[in-house]
This record gives sequence, C-alpha cells and structure tokens, in this order.
Amino acid sequence: MKNLAIIFLVSVAVGLAGGYTYFHFTNNDETAAAKQETAAVQKKPTALTQTTSTSSKEGEILKQKGCLSCHSVSKLNLQGGTTGPDLSNAYKVVEGKHGKPIEEFLKEPTSAVMSGVIKSNPLTDEERAAIIQVLKTASEK
Ligand code: HEC
Repeated sequence: MKNLAIIFLVSVAVGLAGGYTYFHFTNNDETAAAKQETAAVQKKPTALTQTTSTSSKEGEILKQKGCLSCHSVSKLNLQGGTTGPDLSNAYKVVEGKHGKPIEEFLKEPTSAVMSGVIKSNPLTDEERAAIIQVLKTASEK
C-alpha cells in the first residue's frame, strides 16, 4: 500500500513537470517568434545601407581564416580565443597602436604574433577587404 502511494506521488510529480515543460517551451516559442518579428522590423532601415546583415554572416570570414581562435569581436557577438585583443575597435585603434593603417597592418603586421600568423597564412586582397569591412562595421556599433 505504501508503495502504491509513492508510485502515485511520483506519477503526479512527473505529470506536473511534463506539463510545466510543455507550457514553458510553447511560451518560449511564442516570445522567440515575437522577438524575431521586432528584430526584423528594427533591422529594415539598416538593411538598406548595409550589405551584411546577421552577425554570424559577418563573422564568417574571421572564422574561415582562423582569426577567432585568438580574437573575439564582442560588438558582433563573436566569441573567440583570448590570445589576441578583442577586435571590436581594431578598425579605429590599429593605426595608433601599430603605426600603420589596418590595411597595411594586415599585409605586413608590425607585431610579433600577427607577423607569424600572416606569414604562415597570407590573406588575399579580397579576404583582407572583407575582414576590414567586418571590423569597420564592428567599430561603428
Ligand atoms: C595565434 C593567435 C592569433 C591569430 C590566429 C590571429 N591573431 Fe590577430 N593578434 C594576435 C595577437 C597576440 C595580437 C596582439 C599583437 C601581437 O602581439 O601581434 C593580435 C593583433 C591583431 C590586430 C591588432 C589589434 C590591436 O588592437 O592591437 C588585428 C587587427 C588582428 N590581430 C587581426 C587578426 C585577423 C584579421 C586574424 C585572422 C586572419 C588574426 N588577427 C589572427 C593573435 C592572433
């Protein structure tokens, strides 16, 4: 008899938890959908002036070239390694820090680690331009 009571209580608990989870998830879906809608509405004006739209797409080139293994770009929500500095403002600060504009820095870095990175894995003109575009976008946020 005692066993039956325990089984009953456990079933009730599982039932409640299941019901809660169900509603929890359906509610989340609704808010997520609502958020997406507002995000879409907010994005419209900028979509006209910017060619890159989502942060994951913006970061694709940095991921492809392995930059994110050492760098984050927090302004674009790109979480990466911590060996190098966060590149959110690199577009603006590189010239002051390294004595040459970012375009030149990425061709021929003046700093130790980046010299090695670029030497072993040079960027094409297109890749460099794409990276600079991404970092420019980040620095303007
Ligand atoms: C092995 C780790 C590593 C990789 C991979 C790497 N970096 Fe770096 N990067 C660094 C470090 C460390 C610095 C700091 C300066 C130095 O010591 O060279 C730096 C500095 C920079 C800077 C100057 C920013 C500042 O504030 O000083 C830029 C821009 C940059 N990296 C871009 C890139 C790009 C673009 C890539 C991908 C093509 C990349 N890095 C890949 C480690 C890395």
